[in-house]
Amino acid sequence: RSSVRVRAPPGGKSCGGFWKMGDSQFVLIQGGTVVNANESIRADVLVEDGIIRKVGENLSAPEGARVINAEGKMVMPGGIDTHTHCQMPFMGTQAVDDFYIGTKAALAGGTTMIIDFIIPQKGEKLADAYKKWKTWAEEKVCCDYSFHMAITHWDESVRKDMRLMSTEEYGINSFKMFMAYKDVFMLQDHEMLEVFKTCREIGAIGQVHAENGDVIEENQKRLLAMGITGPEGHPLSRPEEVEAEAVLRACVISNQVKCPLYVVHVMSKSAAEIIMTKRKEGAVIFGEPIAASLACNGTHYWHKCWRHAAAYVLSPPLREDEGTPDYLMDLLAQGHLQCTGTDNCTFNSSQKARGINDFTKIPNGVNGLEDRMSVIWEKGVWSGKMSPERFVDVTSTTAARIFNIYPQKGVIAPGSDADILVWDPDRTRTISAETHHHAVDFNIFEGMTVHGVAEVVLTNGKVVVENGEVNVTQGGKSSIFF
Ligand code: URP
Ligand code: ZN
Ligand code: ZN
Ligand code: ZN
Repeated sequence: RSSVRVRAPPGGKSCGGFWKMGDSQFVLIQGGTVVNANESIRADVLVEDGIIRKVGENLSAPEGARVINAEGKMVMPGGIDTHTHCQMPFMGTQAVDDFYIGTKAALAGGTTMIIDFIIPQKGEKLADAYKKWKTWAEEKVCCDYSFHMAITHWDESVRKDMRLMSTEEYGINSFKMFMAYKDVFMLQDHEMLEVFKTCREIGAIGQVHAENGDVIEENQKRLLAMGITGPEGHPLSRPEEVEAEAVLRACVISNQVKCPLYVVHVMSKSAAEIIMTKRKEGAVIFGEPIAASLACNGTHYWHKCWRHAAAYVLSPPLREDEGTPDYLMDLLAQGHLQCTGTDNCTFNSSQKARGINDFTKIPNGVNGLEDRMSVIWEKGVWSGKMSPERFVDVTSTTAARIFNIYPQKGVIAPGSDADILVWDPDRTRTISAETHHHAVDFNIFEGMTVHGVAEVVLTNGKVVVENGEVNVTQGGKSSIFF
């Protein structure tokens, strides 16, 4: 399903409701290496009113153009974070990175578009949830965004509503099912089957949070009864095979009705191996590791500081096997996994403390929006596993293709949106909650020194990051894709 956006005619600029010609805003990015998913070339990039107009050698600067020197730097499409939960109401509280702070942090790190999730309450009309989320986002975002939609209950009216959501007016082309969070969001297999069938009918992709919610509930009860109440109970209640079983089940159910499947937050080796195997068999399946699963392991759950351990509580959990992040990065580099998101869903110490006596009450979620690009550059490209072109592919281009926003996004080419990074591949920075742009008081990548820094960031042709400063206004960017 295509999603379209109204924009200014070439050379025109919005002015009091009509278009005034001859007043264009130009930016010329000079002397860099343009990196796309398919190739890298030495070229200048000319931007006019938010759109890339020309890519080529020795472009001359139109009068009044802002010229950016990219000598020795890479010029790339802005990152697309496929998985965020800004200001999500969850587990009795609400994520602290709202649509303003979340998108500001995104821009600081080189991500210029987020795809967030509309999550209707059980029984809530999809259109009502859509309106609610859209209002939240519109008031606050400072970069482009769009939505996936979760399906959290099933009856025939939901099928009708999914059809409505897939029309141009709403533009939803991906629907997520939770196989966990029993009694809150979880669907049964027969309900998932109906959702996949409907996705297939309307041309959407089905997504799953893959964990066996029944088994988790049983494990949680058993662990609490044994007196295990700390954060270590979280991974103990959700072992790797509980993720792998659900991934396999989702692959089988979706494949039976020939619906493409997108597995969000791939957290373990065995889950990734199932995706790889099913893809080899010919099933249309995509896997999304997240910044957390590519860079952190589950040893943190055993940290003697409660707050530290609780900070890493997300679902599915990080794995105790310390080789998991490198293994997932290998598969991503080799093409067995396709996209990267973050699952950014952040909670402060006081919120995490809701679970101080019971790990099942610790709000699930971690940061990632700001640091995803640098973390993947460090662990993927700097380590020698992936090329800069593959980096662009897994941080931007493939997401744009799967969710039908290519070539508006995901590529540096004439006609595409000017969401552009001037990337310094050699510069380093050390990640810290002291300096990050998130609202949350903890950073799961604390102390990690990463190569690869977004020196200059443009969102729709406007320079919003330079000299280490982020210059945005709340709600300053509200273009969307419907
Ligand atoms: O722990 C997580 N992942 N929190 C956000 C909700 C979800 O499951 O994606
Ligand atoms: Zn999830
Ligand atoms: Zn600590
Ligand atoms: Zn999520």
